Order: sequence, then C-alpha cells, then structure tokens
Amino acid sequence: MNTYPKTEKYESKWIEENWMGPNPLQLLEELCNNMNLSPGMKVLDMGCGKGLTSIFLAKEFDVTVFANDLWIDPTENLERFKEAGVDDKVFPLKAEAHGLPYAEGFFDAAIAIDSYQYYGADEIYFPVTFSKLVKQGGQFGIVCPGLMQEFKKGYPETHESFWYEDMFSFHSADWWKNLWEKTELVDITSCYNIPDAKKIWYSWAHWARENLGYLKDEVGFDDIEFLDADTEDQITLLAMTAVKK
Ligand SMILES: C[S@@+](CC[C@H](N)C(=O)[O-])C[C@H]1O[C@@H](n2cnc3c(N)ncnc32)[C@H](O)[C@@H]1O
Repeated sequence: MNTYPKTEKYESKWIEENWMGPNPLQLLEELCNNMNLSPGMKVLDMGCGKGLTSIFLAKEFDVTVFANDLWIDPTENLERFKEAGVDDKVFPLKAEAHGLPYAEGFFDAAIAIDSYQYYGADEIYFPVTFSKLVKQGGQFGIVCPGLMQEFKKGYPETHESFWYEDMFSFHSADWWKNLWEKTELVDITSCYNIPDAKKIWYSWAHWARENLGYLKDEVGFDDIEFLDADTEDQITLLAMTAVKK
C-alpha cells in the first residue's frame, strides 16, 4: 500500500468526521506528489466539501486557499478553518462550477478531489471555464473515480445493475487525458490510476456502511456492494495533473 506520511499526521477521527468520500487527504497527497506547490501560491480547491483538503493545503504547503463548494455551507467551513487555525489563509466560498466569481488567471493552481466528475466531464468545461482560472505556467490537478478502460455501454458488465446517472462521468485515465490534451491549452504532467485505489475506497465504504446507512436506502446499494461487484478490477480512482501553456 502506498504510504501517505503527510496524511498520517492528521487524526483519523477528524478525517472521518468530515470526509465525504474516499480519504481526500490521501488522494490529495498522491496528487501533490505530481505538483509543485510553494508558499504564498493562490490555490483553488474546487468542490472542497468540508474543507479537509483546503486545511491540508494551507498547513502542508503554506499556500492561500479559496475553498469553493456547492453543497456545504461556507459558514460551517469557516468554523472548521478557525478550529484548524488556518482562517487567515483559507477562504470559504459557495459557488457553482459554472458560475465562479474569480478573475481569469488569478490562481497559481486549481485542484479538485472527488469533485470534477460532477461538472467537468463534458467537452467544454475545461476550455471555457476551468483552464481560465489559472495563470500561464499554473497547475491543475484532479482526482476522480473512474474506470480502467472505456466501455461501449459506459460501464463494465459486472455493474449493469449499479450504474446510475451520475456514474456516466466515470472514465479511463486515457479518456481524461485526451479531454484536456486536445484543447492544446495544457501539457499533461501525469495521468494514472492510483495504486491501491480500491483499498482507499474500501476504507471509506466500510465507514459509510457503519455510519451512513441511509445512503444505501437512497441509492439502492452501498459502496461495499459496488466494490465487491468489481470482480474484473475495472473500477479505480485516477489522478491527473497538467500545466497551462
Ligand atoms: C463527493 S464530495 C467530495 C468533497 C471533498 N472534496 C472530499 O473529498 O471530501 C463532492 C463535492 O463536489 C461539490 N460539487 C458537486 N457539484 C458541484 C458543482 N456543480 N459546483 C461546485 N461544486 C460541486 C459538492 O459540493 C461536494 O462537496
């Protein structure tokens, strides 16, 4: 299993109180191994959820973070940033991905952990919106749930009864790479399936079964059933980074 020494400094209990999917700090640490973040940079944390990743970015890299989310109240996030002692460096905002309030070229980097697949999996989101947020030479990094390869129906046969609408934005690393690369706006610096992705996902899935039983009632299955069905190992978490030309 990959090790994530920076993540290990944070209490599991605190992570579990605030995570909204597979351990976002491990996913972010994995991503940051392929990025160059340095003190004073301005970083957009898109879909920051409860702000764990925003706190991590401020503490580990001494960057200024715009913690942007839709579902989570920014006032609630501000309290977490105060408790973590980073409210001078992390600014909570609520904005939908297609109506962002930022100036073009404002950020040194924009990242999204387990979020970009909700709004960025079409042909135009990157060239029309996301790419413009970052200055020339600036960096992008995303981690998304995905597939080991593309399937004609959009999903592996093992998952016929599991695939609901949101999941049609699950794609392979090559698919994501092509989505950004063909715009000729960026150089892709890494794009790969995270080693031990399913172990990371299972840790969340076990916690969610214990603590969020209602999700199964809403969706019809839970993440353990979803992962257990993956007998052909086609489900993954992938990371992609890029630099703006
Ligand atoms: C699965 S949660 C992940 C949250 C956090 N990054 C984490 O890993 O704990 C996905 C996040 O994406 C955000 N999101 C989804 N659709 C969005 C949109 N259209 N615009 C902005 N944020 C969005 C949600 O608000 C949500 O907090």
